Amino acid sequence: MDDTRSTELALRVAETVRRACVRAAQEGYADAAMSGLCAEGAAEAAVDAVRRLDVDALARAAAAEEEDAPLAPLDDPLHFVRAVTEHVAEGLCVMDAHGRLTYMNPAAEEVLGWRREELLGRVLHDAVHYLRPDGSPYPLDECPLGSVLRGGPAIRELEDVWIRRSGEFFPVFCSCTPIRQAGRVQGAVLSLHDITARKHEEAERLRLLDAESEARAEAERANRTKADFLAVMSHELRTPLTAVMGYAELLLMGVPEPLSEGTRSHVDRIDQAARHLLALIEEILSFSRIEAGREEVRPTDADVAEVAREAAAFVQPLARRKGLALRVRVPDRPLCAVIDRGKLRQVLVNLLFNAIKFTARGEVALEVEPDGPAALMHVRDTGVGIAPGDLERIWEPFWQAQPANTREVGGTGLGLSISRRTVHLLGGDIAVASEPGRGSVFTVRLPLAAAG
Ligand SMILES: Nc1ncnc2c1ncn2[C@@H]1O[C@H](COP(=O)(O)OP(=O)(O)OP(=O)(O)O)[C@@H](O)[C@H]1O
Ligand SMILES: [Mg+2]
Repeated sequence: MDDTRSTELALRVAETVRRACVRAAQEGYADAAMSGLCAEGAAEAAVDAVRRLDVDALARAAAAEEEDAPLAPLDDPLHFVRAVTEHVAEGLCVMDAHGRLTYMNPAAEEVLGWRREELLGRVLHDAVHYLRPDGSPYPLDECPLGSVLRGGPAIRELEDVWIRRSGEFFPVFCSCTPIRQAGRVQGAVLSLHDITARKHEEAERLRLLDAESEARAEAERANRTKADFLAVMSHELRTPLTAVMGYAELLLMGVPEPLSEGTRSHVDRIDQAARHLLALIEEILSFSRIEAGREEVRPTDADVAEVAREAAAFVQPLARRKGLALRVRVPDRPLCAVIDRGKLRQVLVNLLFNAIKFTARGEVALEVEPDGPAALMHVRDTGVGIAPGDLERIWEPFWQAQPANTREVGGTGLGLSISRRTVHLLGGDIAVASEPGRGSVFTVRLPLAAAG
């Protein structure tokens, strides 16, 4: 055979072998196909031809042919599957029944740091899963992925730790499904997803949560310390103050001897100032108790209408002294609620005090009405009103439209913040509507007891 003919023949045989191999690979029966090819009688010629082949030249020609080849249409099932597995973001590995790698896609190469050719034919577990995170050996027999090859069930979304080529451990989410043929496990498909970034995010979130709860605990500790300090201080202040008030009262009663008009008016002022101071101490104490979460609510069956009448009666003298009418409109029938009546009275008295304090002329009204499963309590006044920009700020502790020392009326700016927190403790809410120069309405809404 001359050289030209033998090369021609060799090329033809090589082409036949190539096609047969491709088909065999597609069908997964490479060995069978190869032996079939030999049995067809081309064996000797093929072996001879292949022996004479310039294998490198053929490989180059095949590569060039592949590069120039037009793009394979995706409606060809083989190319479709290949395109998907090669381009999917999930790492994919295919193992034979012994756990040896038979395929690995580029995403898996990137995650594991190995190139496909380096691992083909090697037991995958020995390359990427051979140690436990604590550094101890991890035999394939104990590996849950290995159990799939031993006939165990598929594994879905197992969170695991694998090892990159560099030796670095990394967290991974993997699934492993057996490939069965004729009832026997022929291998397994493994999909993996590197979750290092997600783990970092989780760790960062946990760290922030920890920091936040630590900061909150610290703030609560500081609050409790403040509340303890205020409790001790106010007790220390209250004791001598009670003595001052007691002696002032005795003097006003003419004990040990009647007072002249001038002295009486001085003692009267001492008494009033002491009462004012006492009210202030009580207010600060109550604020710090609420702040520290130590305010206790003692709910009992109560008639909201009656509590409202009591609050109105309490502030009546103050309104009269200022020449303001106090209008009270409360239903005759009881409005039953399970609440701490002392606390509700304190809230209504606070609102009524404010209404009287910030109203120079006109009237102050307290109206109570049922509203479905709740009771509404409106405290209205015809006073100075509140600027729209201040409507939110009035609830802040110590906030006052004008500082107490620059205005005629006193106060600490705690009344509304205490009232709102108290109403929340009672399970209700409080709102305000106001127009500067025309007056304000504060409305408390509290749930009523279910009828029956
Ligand atoms: N009815 C009202 N009319 C106009 N302004 C009001 C009214 N109620 C409250 N305010 C404004 O809101 C501020 C805060 O009220 P809050 O009751 O908390 O404090 P205060 O009355 O100044 O002092 P305290 O109640 O502690 O004695 C008041 O200083 C006032 O500027
Ligand atoms: Mg007030």
